[in-house]
Amino acid sequence: MGTQNLRLELSRDLIDVESIRMNEQQKIDSKKEIEERRRRGQFATPIDLADEITAYGLSVLSTDDISFLEPAVGTGAFISALLRNCKDKYISKCIGYEIDKQYFDVASSLWSYHGFEMKNLDFTMQNPSGKQVNLLISNPPYVRHHYITVEEKTRLNKLVYNEVGINISGLAGLYSYFMLLSHKWLAPGAVSGWLIPSEFMDVNYGEALKEYLLNHVRLLRIHRYDPQNSQFNDALVSSAVVWFINEKCEDDYEVEFTFGGTHTLPQKRKLVRKSVLSSERKWTRFPEQDVRSTDMQRITQLGDYFDIKRGLATGDNNFFILTKEQIEERGLDMSFFIPILPSPRKLKTDEVLSDKMGIPQIDTPYFLLRCSLPEDEIKEKSPALWSYLQTGKDTTAKKYLCKSRRLWYMQENRTATPFLCSYMGRSSESRSPFRFILNHSDAVATNSYLMLYPKPGLERLIAENTALLNKVWDILCSIGNKSIENEGRVYGGGLKKIEPKELAKVPCQELDFLC
Ligand SMILES: C[S@@+](CC[C@H](N)C(=O)[O-])C[C@H]1O[C@@H](n2cnc3c(N)ncnc32)[C@H](O)[C@@H]1O
Repeated sequence: MGTQNLRLELSRDLIDVESIRMNEQQKIDSKKEIEERRRRGQFATPIDLADEITAYGLSVLSTDDISFLEPAVGTGAFISALLRNCKDKYISKCIGYEIDKQYFDVASSLWSYHGFEMKNLDFTMQNPSGKQVNLLISNPPYVRHHYITVEEKTRLNKLVYNEVGINISGLAGLYSYFMLLSHKWLAPGAVSGWLIPSEFMDVNYGEALKEYLLNHVRLLRIHRYDPQNSQFNDALVSSAVVWFINEKCEDDYEVEFTFGGTHTLPQKRKLVRKSVLSSERKWTRFPEQDVRSTDMQRITQLGDYFDIKRGLATGDNNFFILTKEQIEERGLDMSFFIPILPSPRKLKTDEVLSDKMGIPQIDTPYFLLRCSLPEDEIKEKSPALWSYLQTGKDTTAKKYLCKSRRLWYMQENRTATPFLCSYMGRSSESRSPFRFILNHSDAVATNSYLMLYPKPGLERLIAENTALLNKVWDILCSIGNKSIENEGRVYGGGLKKIEPKELAKVPCQELDFLC
């Protein structure tokens, strides 16, 4: 059957087919555990999104003869959208890959019948046979790096490097590999659109993708959905649609950045030059903010006065962090513990006072197990601690972080610092998501805080005049929320976060007057 006839035939019952597809999608989704869906990145595109994204892709395509690829087809939201939106264009080829048999079966029964090729295969292992495609639109699996095995990352990394000469960070999600591995499928001039998490625009592990977009293809547009209105309630990510054309372009040119509203009717829009993007680390500043002024480089930033580090990742707070009562109940020796602050949610005060022993004067002080002795020595010196460790062997010891340590229970050696910042939260009218804490105690902190260690100059001044502690704290607290949010990021549902390198970039000129 010719695909043109197919389209005419389909136009009569496309609405019915779409409602069958959505039904089947929901049935499968509802039977799966959320954890399984995260491992495979199984969060389908709402059809209205697929429609507007596809309509835009078609409007950019300069030919009427479409050859289409969906590398992570699911049940086929984008195929459904393509058929409904392609109007007078002709679909001469349509290929979909899907690794999951259940989604594949639906896609196959709905779309293969009409001569499209649906394949129940792992896309990352495929090569284009024959003609490349001129249109690719996808919502690839996001799958966070924790869920990708080391062997799989090594395989994918090698493939990407061999194909496009780019090294992807081990912290990148599966979607980055999908995008770069699809390069070989694109015909010259092909239009490619990807619905992906917007995090790549700001984080270090997004560098590979940025390099690809700036130096291997022509970046056309990035639309960022407003994170306050998450597109995927169950996936908790803020999403962007990235558009590019498969053509190299050495010259400087303008890229369209849009934000909010819908893809078709965004709330904000700005054109940003490729040369600006090459030197701007944080792409999510566009379109809302202007190109960073070069003077900005000279304004004092927090990183000039502090070494900023994420707090300790214990590997399992429930196992390694105990109250005094819990330590005593188990007969554990207090010398194996150091004080640690509770999470910002549980910390009622912003100034943590200390007793003579350096323990925080708060309702419930917490303590972190810190021991670097090998197990046989622990068994000899402290049988109670040894027995406690045995209770974590089948659970805690097998967790991601603990598994990678020389001794699974050995924590990073960190000292306390007087200045901390809670690194994520939602803003409410009464409270900022980022709180600066003044810590007079010896307590360290978990990774729900950023720890600001004064650099030697400031450290010396504080040692000479401890009254400066409060002055520095006042200055930190007076930094406007907006300045912090400008450097941080916002996730689906309005969750705000700031990473150490981002906090280091927050302007804070008042510190110059102090030092
Ligand atoms: C985010 S969902 C999107 C599905 C569909 N594109 C849509 O927009 O509704 C990603 C899909 O990729 C599939 N997937 C995951 N890993 C894959 C792989 N290596 N090869 C092909 N498909 C894969 C998942 O099973 C899931 O159906």
